[in-house]
Amino acid sequence: MSQAFAGRLIRWQLEHGRHGLPWQGTSDPYAIWVSEVMLQQTQVLTVIPYYQQFMRAFPDVSSLAQAPLERVLALWSGLGYYSRARHLHRSAQLLLEDYGGEFPHDRTVLQRLPGIGRSTAAAIAAFAFGECCTILDGNVKRILARYFGIRGYPGERAIEAQLWQTAERLLPQGPDSKTMASYTQALMDLGALVCTRARPRCQLCPLQSDCVAYRHDQTAVLPTPKPR
Ligand code: ADE
Repeated sequence: MSQAFAGRLIRWQLEHGRHGLPWQGTSDPYAIWVSEVMLQQTQVLTVIPYYQQFMRAFPDVSSLAQAPLERVLALWSGLGYYSRARHLHRSAQLLLEDYGGEFPHDRTVLQRLPGIGRSTAAAIAAFAFGECCTILDGNVKRILARYFGIRGYPGERAIEAQLWQTAERLLPQGPDSKTMASYTQALMDLGALVCTRARPRCQLCPLQSDCVAYRHDQTAVLPTPKPR
């Protein structure tokens, strides 16, 4: 059952997911980190030119760490949520000081850096190192809440913990690094392209036949909104 979930997603991603995004052609953890931080609160199409400019200006950890903060913020100008840029800059300095500019492979170490939460650390680990670990951003929470019919606001601690457990259970078993990248991208793509918040495209969904929300016509009420 859980392997069917991953298998369907991976096959779907190959044919219908997003390919050729500028950060997909690399396994450089620095490049993937920059892209994931930009993508935390900003849409793909907006991010692309910012990402390309940023990578030209700061191609590696040391160039970012040594740049004046003002230059980093100037290149971020227009993307919003500027604390992301400050954290990126600070983290680059920490990586240079404490790790000799080498990216730590350990997710728990990555997660200690400013601006890298559990899901972003997992995305970097999966894309750059092929590690078998799950992301859980807002899109994935929505997919899982619908697929399993999980009620309760996902921002609530207990619900969030349940969603992390569920996401971990669904991971492909013994995947190679390419499989982990496809699976992680598949979750992101399904949430962005099919299992959208409003008007999900259930007819195009590879998970439709086993989705609780679809079967019970509850996509409009799942995930449970924030209590008011
Ligand atoms: N959102 C967050 N990370 C992403 C990625 N790597 N590709 C597309 N959308 C994303």
